[in-house]
Amino acid sequence: MTPRAIGSPAELAAAMKTPWEASEQQWAAITAPLTPAVVVAGAGSGKTTLMAARVVYLVLTGQVRPEEVLGLTFTTKAASELRTRIREALRDAGALDEVADDGEDVLEPTVATYNAYAAALLTDHGLRIGHEPDTRVITDAARYQLGARVVDRYTGEIVLLSDEDDPQLRWRFTDKMADVTSVVRPNSALPGTPSYSLFDLSGRVKLNSALTLRAGITNLFDKKPPLVAGSFSGTSPGTFDVEGRSFFVGVRANF
Ligand SMILES: Nc1ncnc2c1ncn2[C@@H]1O[C@H](COP(=O)(O)OP(=O)(O)OP(=O)(O)O)[C@@H](O)[C@H]1O
Ligand SMILES: [Mg+2]
Repeated sequence: MTPRAIGSPAELAAAMKTPWEASEQQWAAITAPLTPAVVVAGAGSGKTTLMAARVVYLVLTGQVRPEEVLGLTFTTKAASELRTRIREALRDAGALDEVADDGEDVLEPTVATYNAYAAALLTDHGLRIGHEPDTRVITDAARYQLGARVVDRYTGEIVLLSDEDDPQLRWRFTDKMADVTSVVRPNSALPGTPSYSLFDLSGRVKLNSALTLRAGITNLFDKKPPLVAGSFSGTSPGTFDVEGRSFFVGVRANF
């Protein structure tokens, strides 16, 4: 396709085969130079029309090729509308052949949501920075679920979140639970687990202005984990303490 000059809204309307002509403001945005620019416009004012027209203008005047255009939106609905409108506008203007001459796939603008585009970038190029191609960008909901699960399953000591006075006796309580079989086969459910308590004792001694000694006993009464009937390992190490009583000592030095 040979580039051609398009000098007025009327010429653009003729090239795009549209009955309407761009307004003065639209024309300014359509023909703006290829530098960063912001267009602020209200609902229904012709933003999508304008973006499609700008792509057509830039392609017909030979400033960009269709596949060099990237359009990003927040919602899938907006992406789908923008993609359709740009494609139709390019096609109507004869700037995008249905089937390329050489039978290759037609190279079209990329229009996607920010999320989808980021995910595609990661899939295509993630390997360069050590991400497997099947790495996924997770949704907010999935991220929240993962976070909640980690916090939920953690039974160890959370040092940085506790600044209470020493010595400290901590009680970790897990309420009684029904066995998983009570959901899968309620008529012949296996027994559940009783409520369960662990106690930890810890303390701190300041040796001098720089050194603090910390020590403690985890699972003070050497509580055994209850039998979890429906589990393969006999108990659930994620929920109950399988190590029994243990001791820890640590020194903290401030420089
Ligand atoms: N200069 C113009 N003259 C006449 N009609 C126009 C002009 N520009 C846009 N339109 C028409 O106005 C209507 C709304 O345009 P468009 O969908 O592009 O607006 P929008 O700002 O993207 O809307 P929304 O806020 O809903 O996304 C369309 O039917 C479009 O063809
Ligand atoms: Mg729109």
